[in-house]
Amino acid sequence: MDLLTVRDLRKTYGAVVALQSGNLTVAAGEIHALLGANGAGKSTMVKMLTGVIRPDSGTISVGGRAVQLRSPAAAQRAGLAAVFQDPALAPDLTVLENLRLTGTSVSAVQRWLQVMTLAVDLRQLVGDLPLPLLRMLDLARALAREPQLLLLDEITAALPSDLAERVFVVMRQWRDQGRSVLFISHRLAEVRAICDRATVLRDGRDVGVLDLTEGSEERIVELMLGPAAQDVAAGTHAASAKTELRERGAPLLEVRDLQLAQELKGISFTLSRGEVLGVAALEGQGQEALFDCLAGRRTASGGEIVMKGKSLRLRQPYDAIRNGVVLVPADRLLALLPQRSVHENIGLPLYNRLSRWGMIRQSQEREQIQAAVAKLQIDTRAQRQVRWLSGGNQQKVTIARWVASGFDVLLCFDPTRGIDVGTKRQIYRLLQELASQGAAVLLFTSELPEIQLVCDRVIVLYEGKLVRELPAAEADEAALLHAAHGLTRAEAVAL
Ligand SMILES: Nc1ncnc2c1ncn2[C@@H]1O[C@H](COP(=O)(O)OP(=O)(O)OP(=O)(O)O)[C@@H](O)[C@H]1O
Ligand SMILES: [Mg+2]
Repeated sequence: MDLLTVRDLRKTYGAVVALQSGNLTVAAGEIHALLGANGAGKSTMVKMLTGVIRPDSGTISVGGRAVQLRSPAAAQRAGLAAVFQDPALAPDLTVLENLRLTGTSVSAVQRWLQVMTLAVDLRQLVGDLPLPLLRMLDLARALAREPQLLLLDEITAALPSDLAERVFVVMRQWRDQGRSVLFISHRLAEVRAICDRATVLRDGRDVGVLDLTEGSEERIVELMLGPAAQDVAAGTHAASAKTELRERGAPLLEVRDLQLAQELKGISFTLSRGEVLGVAALEGQGQEALFDCLAGRRTASGGEIVMKGKSLRLRQPYDAIRNGVVLVPADRLLALLPQRSVHENIGLPLYNRLSRWGMIRQSQEREQIQAAVAKLQIDTRAQRQVRWLSGGNQQKVTIARWVASGFDVLLCFDPTRGIDVGTKRQIYRLLQELASQGAAVLLFTSELPEIQLVCDRVIVLYEGKLVRELPAAEADEAALLHAAHGLTRAEAVAL
C-alpha cells in the first residue's frame, strides 16, 4: 500500500522555480531515497511535505486521503516528521529549553538517545555541541513524534561513519515496523546499501524511479546529472582522481604538542606547501578542537602553532586569517551572513585585504568573486540572499570565499558536506590545484573513502591523540577505519 502520494507539486519564489513539478510515491514499510543534484528541489519537497512552506499547486495524499498541510502541526498530525538539512535547534538555548519550546516529549527524546547509545547532557547549550551530535538530537526529536513517514534531509552529511551506522539501524527498525522513511543523501553508496527504491529529481522534475540494486549508482548519476554526465559517472567510484605527486616544500605550518583540556592531548605534525593533508577520525576524537585551535576559534592550553617559522598566538579567528590560515567550518551557518547576497558573502575577506591599500578596487573584486562563483559552479538563481540557496550551494559559498581572497593554509572541515557527486570531484580537484599553486590544505572529511582521492598523506586521530600517519596509497577505507578505532597495526592484521 502507498503511504504517501505526491502529484505535480510545484513551488516558485518569484522568478526562481524551486520545484517545477514533483511526483513521488512512498510505500508503507519502505525506505525511499529522494535524489538529485544541488538545487534540484529535494529540500523544497521536504518543506512542503512538513507544512513549512505551501505549494503553489499539486496534491499530497497520505494513506489514500488528500491532505492540506497548512502548518508543521498539520503535517505532524498527518504522520509526517522531518530532520531538516540544517540544524533546527536554537543555539543560545539549552537542549532542554529547545525541546520544551517545541513541545517535544523530553522522555521520548531521551529514550531514543539511549536506543542510539548517545550520551548527551540536555542541560548543555546547543551552541556548545558539535554538529554531528546536533544532527542526532534532531533525529531523536523527529523520532519522538512517532511519524508514519520520517523524512531525513541529508542527516548523514555531517556524520562520521560510526554515527551514520546508528542512523541506519534506526531506519531499518522503522521499516521493519511497517513505517516508512524518505532519505536524502549525496552519498550514493549508503543510498544503495540502505534504501529500497529511489526517485530522482532533475531541475525541479522527477525524472525516474528505480529499485536499488548492485550497480544502481551509475544509473542514478545519469538521471541526476542528465545526458552530459558520462564523465562524472565514470569517475564517481574510481579511487584514482589523484594527480601526479606534488613536490613537497619546507614546512609551512608546524603543530607541536598541541593541547586543549580533555580534547587534544599533544598533537604534532607538519604541513608543507603543495600538500593536502587528510585528517581521519570517528566522531569526537578531537578533530573539531584541532581545527578550532588552528583557526583561532578556541585557544590551545598548551603546545605551539608555528607558521612560516613564526610562533603564533591565536586569540581570535582574525589572528589566524591575518597569518594566512583560513577555515571552512563544519557548520556553514556560522560562516555565512544569511541575509546578504552571494557576492557579499564571498567578498567579505576581500574587503579587508583590498582596503589595506586604501580603496576597494571594485572591478578587481568583482572579477575575483565571479571567478570563484564559476569555479565552484554556484547556482546563483537566488543569489540576492544566501539563505535562499540550496544547502549544497551555500556550502560552495563558504569555500568560494577563500578561493577568491587567497590564503596560505586552508583548513577544510568537511567541505563537501551536502555537495552532489558531480561537483564533489571538482572541489577536490580545486583543492589539489590550490595546493599545487603553493598553498597547503588540511582536510577533515566524514567520508573516509574520499580521503584517498584527494590527500597526499593522512593523519588519524583517536581520543585526542595522533595515532597513525599514512601515505595516501595506504589510506584505504579499511586501513583508516582500523586506525580510527584506535587499533594498532598488529590488531588490525589479526582481525
Ligand atoms: N526561499 C527561497 N527563495 C528563492 N529561491 C529559493 C528559496 N528556497 C529555495 N530556492 C531555490 O530553489 C531551488 C531548489 O532548492 P532546494 O533547496 O530544494 O535544492 P536541493 O535539491 O535540496 O539541493 P541541495 O542538494 O543543495 O540541498 C534552488 O535553486 C534554490 O536556490
Ligand atoms: Mg537540500
